Formats: sequence, structure tokens, C-alpha cells
Amino acid sequence: MKTDLTKSIPAFYVGQSIFLTGPTGFLGKVFIEKILRSCPDVREIFLLMRPKRGLTINERLHKILNLPLFEKLREERPSNFEKLIPVSGNVSEKGLGLSAADRQMLIERVTIIIHAAASVRFNNSLKYAIFANARSTRDICILAQSMKNLVALVHISTAFTHLSEPLVEEKVYPPVTDWRKMIEMVELLDEYTLDIFTAKCLDYAPNTYIFSKNLAENIIQDYSSSLPCAIVRPSIVMPSLEEPVPGWIDNVYGPIGLFIGGGKGIIRVACVNKNVNQNAVPVDIVIKAIIIVSWKLGLTTLTEDSTTFVLNCVNQKVLTYQDGIKMLFSITKKEVPLEGIIWTLHTILTDNFILFYILTILLHIMPAILIDLVLKLSGRRPKLVQLQRRLYVANRAVSYFSFHEWKYSNANSLALISSIPPDNLDMFSINYSYVDLRAYCKNSAIGGKTFLLHEDMNRLAAVRAHSERVYLFVKVLKTIISIGVLWIIYKWIYFNIL
Ligand SMILES: NC(=O)c1ccc[n+]([C@@H]2O[C@H](COP(=O)([O-])OP(=O)(O)OC[C@H]3O[C@@H](n4cnc5c(N)ncnc54)[C@H](OP(=O)(O)O)[C@@H]3O)[C@@H](O)[C@H]2O)c1
Repeated sequence: MKTDLTKSIPAFYVGQSIFLTGPTGFLGKVFIEKILRSCPDVREIFLLMRPKRGLTINERLHKILNLPLFEKLREERPSNFEKLIPVSGNVSEKGLGLSAADRQMLIERVTIIIHAAASVRFNNSLKYAIFANARSTRDICILAQSMKNLVALVHISTAFTHLSEPLVEEKVYPPVTDWRKMIEMVELLDEYTLDIFTAKCLDYAPNTYIFSKNLAENIIQDYSSSLPCAIVRPSIVMPSLEEPVPGWIDNVYGPIGLFIGGGKGIIRVACVNKNVNQNAVPVDIVIKAIIIVSWKLGLTTLTEDSTTFVLNCVNQKVLTYQDGIKMLFSITKKEVPLEGIIWTLHTILTDNFILFYILTILLHIMPAILIDLVLKLSGRRPKLVQLQRRLYVANRAVSYFSFHEWKYSNANSLALISSIPPDNLDMFSINYSYVDLRAYCKNSAIGGKTFLLHEDMNRLAAVRAHSERVYLFVKVLKTIISIGVLWIIYKWIYFNIL
């Protein structure tokens, strides 16, 4: 008897050949893990990868599969790793940098494309951002058009592509400019000349990343009459809620960066509007949403009137920056302290740029210069000033998002939630309105400590002892400085007034 594919997500994936771009990234790795574990009869997954830091694509894959992320899969379905097929490519190159043989193999076999590769750096040159994020999307669509059995193309966008819309609906908006002309222009002009255009483009977007992702959505829309397309727009992607382990994270973004920098005592001041709500969504929810969207798309018949299905993958339950950071820091102080803090934990949040600059000089730059001097004199490599410079650039780059807030419609998300077959709810539910935010933040803190910083949760007693020593040192130092200042004032009054 034939299985009804509308009643089973794993049944739909039986025999499917997936082409995934961005498999080495935060989202890509979690996608590989989830699909191989929950849809075990998928035929194969082609992974578009590039060699990096002296490692070939096979070496990179081998290294990735040894991460703790894959432990559960290793226990449950070790043979499924054989379904991963790395393919050499580079999305910033024309035609995705694929060899003719690989291209032909993909054309013959691929049935589902998940396009997650992107250069997520905010300060890329316009040329590189357009190549990696917009032209690559066009080239994915061109490749998709020649595929013989394609049933779904899911493009991973971001919830921040339409910043002029206070309410972001689940539809494609008109582009900020014509993507064809933009690609043509960056192909033609050199970086130096393009700098002039970059300033103009940044009238429409705070950085080249958002600008290029905005164009990418329109590319998908323009190809949607001939391709089964969907766009998934996650907000800030955070550690996993449950799968495969709670708190999985392997990249430092927004709130997690602040948690680590603040939790180590390095970030003393951050430029954010404390009252703005931050929209963040756990990575496993995003991945399940992608899998479900692709299942839905695969079951829908493409007609001439077909348009892109858009999903805002955002959190309806949000925290302000102030509340989120307060919660994370209280967890860091009491329950999940970080190793080797350099100062007491206290980060000042300010939306006043002048105050931010002054405090940055006083609390970040000057202590960093002093510590670097000590490191240099003791024969060690100075690194604090460089680190503070990077933190400053990162803080300024993300501050646009911590000063603005958007609302999102979620009709498609609700429809998607209700379409999940009841038998699959345990594996694919994306409803997490029940979540206890504090418990989630605690798991995220443990995940950040364990998976990002590689710190041992069994050393909490030693870590607390170090923290107590730092707190005592800071207290003594502050007392000495206060007494010194009072002494100077007293002397000045004594000699000048009395
Ligand atoms: N993380 C978030 O908070 C977030 C939020 C909203 C939307 N998104 C979107 O989600 C997608 C995945 O993001 P992520 O967080 O997983 O990012 P990530 O961790 O930075 O991963 C990016 C992936 O893209 C690949 N890539 C970048 N440039 C490439 C190139 N020139 N050629 C081949 N591969 C290239 C990277 O490969 P290498 O390892 O070789 O560099 C990596 O696999 C992106 O489209 C992003 O825009 C992410």
C-alpha cells in the first residue's frame, strides 16, 4: 500500500536527494543532523563546500561530523553519514564554482534544494556581498531550472530584509533596486569605483549583507513561476531548544556574543536601546520549519500562477534587550559562571552615543592598553586592544538592530503548525509558545560555555573560587582608588583653602 505523503513528513523524504549549500555553517550542520536522524530514508545529501584553512572539503566534513552535535546521530544511525556527498564549490563564483561533472550529477539527481550559504558579515564589500548572496541565488535558480526532478527550492533569507516595513508580512516586497542591473554593475566595476555606489546602496539598508539578502528574495520571486520556491526568514538564530541537545551553538551572534563578552567581564558597555524587543529563535525550530516547508512545497503542484511561499520564522514571545541580558547575566553569575573572568560582571547598556564613546574609552580602551602593556613587559603577546577594537566594530555593526523593532505576521507559521501530521508532532513541532524562557536561557548559557568556549561544567567550584578572588581584588582596588582620590582632595583643600 502506498503511504499518504500528506500524513508523514519522513515518508515524503524517502528517496529524496537534497542539495544543501552552507552545510558547514550553524544552520547547515543542524539541518544535516536533523534530516539524517528524523528522515532516515533520505537518499543522499549533496553538500556544496569549499576548502578552507588548509583543509580539503573531505577533511572539513570529517572534522564537522566529529562535533558533539552529531553524537546522537552516531548512536542512533551511524550508517546514515554515508549519505553525505561533499561537492566542491564556491557561491561567490559565477555558476557556484561547480565542475561540469558535479553540475551534471546534481541536475540528474537532486530533488530538493536548501540554499543556506551566505556571507553573513555585515561589512563585506558590495561586490562580494552581491556575489555571495545575490548572484549565488540567481545561479542556484538557473541550476534548479535544469534539474530533472526538482520538487522544492527553499531559500534561507532573514527576518531583517525589509527594514522599512514596521509590520513584515509573509510576502515578497518590491526590491530596493533591480537585481539584474546590480549584478551586472558589480561584475563590471572595480571595488574602488563601487565604493561610491556602496554609499548610495546603504541608503536602503544598514549594511551590504541586508542589501544583498533583500535582492536575493526578489530573485527567488522572479523565478517562482517556473520553480517550486519558498523563502524562510529567521530572526536572530539562537542555541537549540531541545534537539539534538539543548543549548547547541557554535557561532557567536548578538545576544550570545554579549553573554560571553559580558560573562567574562570584557564587555563593560554596550550601545543598545534597552527597551527594544529582540527577536530570536532557536536553531532547531528554524531547521524543523525548513524541513516542513520543503515537505509542503513538494506536495504542492506548480502552476503558472504559483508564487513564493514565505515564512517568517520568528518568535512571538520576545524579551527586551534589558530583560534578556539581565536574565543571562543573573544565570552567569549564579549558576553557569564562565572560566577566567577578568573583571566583575556588569555591562552598562546605553542608547546615548556620546556616553557610549566616553565609556568605551574609559572602560574598554584604557584598561586594555594597560593590560597589554603589562603583557608586553612580561614577554607575552598583547591582545586586549585588538579584541576591544573588534568588539567595538561588532557593537556598532549590530546597534542598528538593537535600536529598531519590527512586528511580524505569522499566518503562514500558524497554518504550517496546524498542517503537521499528528503522528509527526513529537519530531517536527515548531510550536514553542509553552517554553520557559529562563530554562531556555540557562540551557543556552550552558551550551555557550560547553560548545563554544569548550569549558568543563564539572569545574564550577574552581571557577567560582577564581571569580571570588577577582571580585575581592576589584573591591580592594576600588577602595584604594577611592581613598587615594579622597586623600588628594583633602590635600588640595588643606593647601589651597585652609
Ligand atoms: N545565524 C543567524 O542568526 C541567521 C539569521 C537570519 C538568517 N540567517 C541566514 O541563514 C543562513 C545560514 O546562516 P548561518 O548562521 O548558518 O551562517 P554561517 O554559520 O556563517 O554559515 C554560512 C555558510 O555559508 C557558507 N559560505 C559562505 N560563503 C561561501 C562561499 N563563498 N562559498 C561556499 N560557501 C560559502 C559557509 O561556508 P564556509 O564554512 O566555507 O565559510 C557556511 O557553510 C544564511 O543564509 C543567513 O543569511 C542566519
